Amino acid sequence: MSSEHTWNPELYDNKLGFVAQYGKGVVELLQPKAGETILDLGCGTGDLSVEIAKSGAKVVGMDLSKEMIEQAREKYDGVEFIVGNAESFVHEITYDAVFSNAALHWMKNSAPVIQAVHRALKPGGRFVAELGGKGNVESVVSTITDVLTQDYGIDADQRNPWYFPSLGEYSSLLEQAGFRVIYAVHFDRPTKQADGEAGLSHWLHGFAGDDFFSDFSQADKEQVFEKISARLKDELYADGSWYVDYRRLRFVALKE
Ligand SMILES: C[S@@+](CC[C@H](N)C(=O)[O-])C[C@H]1O[C@@H](n2cnc3c(N)ncnc32)[C@H](O)[C@@H]1O
Repeated sequence: MSSEHTWNPELYDNKLGFVAQYGKGVVELLQPKAGETILDLGCGTGDLSVEIAKSGAKVVGMDLSKEMIEQAREKYDGVEFIVGNAESFVHEITYDAVFSNAALHWMKNSAPVIQAVHRALKPGGRFVAELGGKGNVESVVSTITDVLTQDYGIDADQRNPWYFPSLGEYSSLLEQAGFRVIYAVHFDRPTKQADGEAGLSHWLHGFAGDDFFSDFSQADKEQVFEKISARLKDELYADGSWYVDYRRLRFVALKE
């Protein structure tokens, strides 16, 4: 199932800019070169597509959300941005590399995504990505689950939009699709949020509000986010900032 999350490009760019900032490390892993053609899968508002294009590579940014693509087009000239679904896309050209940052864990139907990437690459082409790995944002997910279950009788698992695979699981899927995994790492990255006390609320609005709390009014969301924040404060709040318990998976895989 593709994510049906409705993205808010303004909130994303203004309060959740850390995603693309951290993604610059994944661009370094990609090592783009002048003259290459590179697809940025789940490009969002395009910041990393443009970062890749600085190398002289020709970049196509693709995203399922037309709102995110509109914002990317408004922000940047010179990079092609298209709306498309990573699960099923077929492009006329083949790419030297497919890049993806912080998007693959929104694609629960992972096998078709990996197959589509494989199809889109030239022989020997590389798939370089970061996504949330097993255990990513676990304290936040378990607190959301507790609050939804105990206070509202809601089964949070049914609403969870994310797929956080282990390194072994995702590597196996890549291998089954015909990739050779030449680098893979699963690491902890406590991730600082902007705006002090309000940081976790921005995070919940941007990433979780639309899915776990889809039927909550705006006022009810504010209330439940305060409750979640209060429960997580001892664990995730330090020196005036929230540090969300990210655990990331990065890999480089080659099309055989
Ligand atoms: C957290 S954002 C990351 C955006 C960007 N890569 C960055 O690093 O800032 C995740 C993006 O994945 C996109 N996405 C989710 N499911 C998708 C799918 N099936 N096909 C294409 N894009 C998808 C969302 O629309 C969203 O823009």
